[in-house]
Amino acid sequence: MSPFLLTRTLPVDATDAALRADVLHGLTRHPKTLPPKWFYDAHGSELFEEITRLPEYYPTRAEREILVARAPEIAAASGAKTLIELGSGSSEKTRHLLDALPGLHSYVPVDVSESALRGAADALLVERPDLSVHALIADFTGELVLPDTPGPRLVAFLGGTIGNLLPDERAVFLKSVRSLLSPGDALLLGTDLVKDEKVLVAAYDDAAGVTAAFNKNVLTVVDRELGADFDPADFDHVALWDRRQEWIEMRLQARRALTVKIPGLDLVVPFEAGEGLRTEVSAKFRKEGIRGELAAAGLRLSQWWTDSADRFALSLATAV
Ligand code: SAH
Ligand code: AVI
Repeated sequence: MSPFLLTRTLPVDATDAALRADVLHGLTRHPKTLPPKWFYDAHGSELFEEITRLPEYYPTRAEREILVARAPEIAAASGAKTLIELGSGSSEKTRHLLDALPGLHSYVPVDVSESALRGAADALLVERPDLSVHALIADFTGELVLPDTPGPRLVAFLGGTIGNLLPDERAVFLKSVRSLLSPGDALLLGTDLVKDEKVLVAAYDDAAGVTAAFNKNVLTVVDRELGADFDPADFDHVALWDRRQEWIEMRLQARRALTVKIPGLDLVVPFEAGEGLRTEVSAKFRKEGIRGELAAAGLRLSQWWTDSADRFALSLATAV
């Protein structure tokens, strides 16, 4: 059996404190916001996997197409012995990389979702008896303490999850990724690309309502963890394309004027009818923008691959 280690880098009470701080900060400002990382309890992680199979949600299929076509080139360029994956989720697409890296010793999936990490590791351990899997329950926007595994390292950040960070958060995040890289290491970054508004909005407002359920799940998390009385039925799921920022914004919009009690914070939060709570941005990118953001963090874009319909890109970058 392969070695498997699961390390929680933040104690459970620190996660509770982070949720409390984010809810207090986000719901007492205007416009109201919540950070997207709180979508991903066990149910939210399952809903995300369902999203990846929806006909409207093209990013997963487009990125998989690039990975299938380019995994040998990525493997040859990186020669990685350790693959670190940030926001790894089910690690489903990662299999194409794992299969292509002949000398791989360790896989280090990093995620806030313990259930996603356990599910991914259970599947991988059966399939790859020689691989050492060291999963980290951690927030990738914080300081990451990585296990001592052999280099070179390839840090993968797939799915377009970087687009869920705001521009100033991305700048800080990319610098912290840069600080993880030694000479010979590389970053593999997945980014969704700017495209037709209708295609984008449909991907975030699917006909079956799975994305709506995913969006509303954050309310269920706050109810369960902080004793709040959000009723998801009081809110509509909204997905808007912001042409200026070039991002999709997901909101929960109050269907009527209401107040929500959050006993865990000793807080009462009023909503006006039609008021929006921003739960996620999902930025879409262009090649020169990516090149510039990487350069500002001390990273050089060395390869850029897209799928056959130019919907999604994978970038390979090295430290300058
Ligand atoms: N990489 C996978 C999953 C993308 S979903 C794919 O491409 O399909 C985004 C993943 O990032 C989820 O598993 C979620 O739990 C995780 N995540 C979101 N915010 C995070 C954060 N701040 N720190 C660590 N993991 C995070
Ligand atoms: C994880 N992340 C890249 C997804 C996205 O497309 O921004 C999360 C998501 N939100 C709604 N649908 C999927």
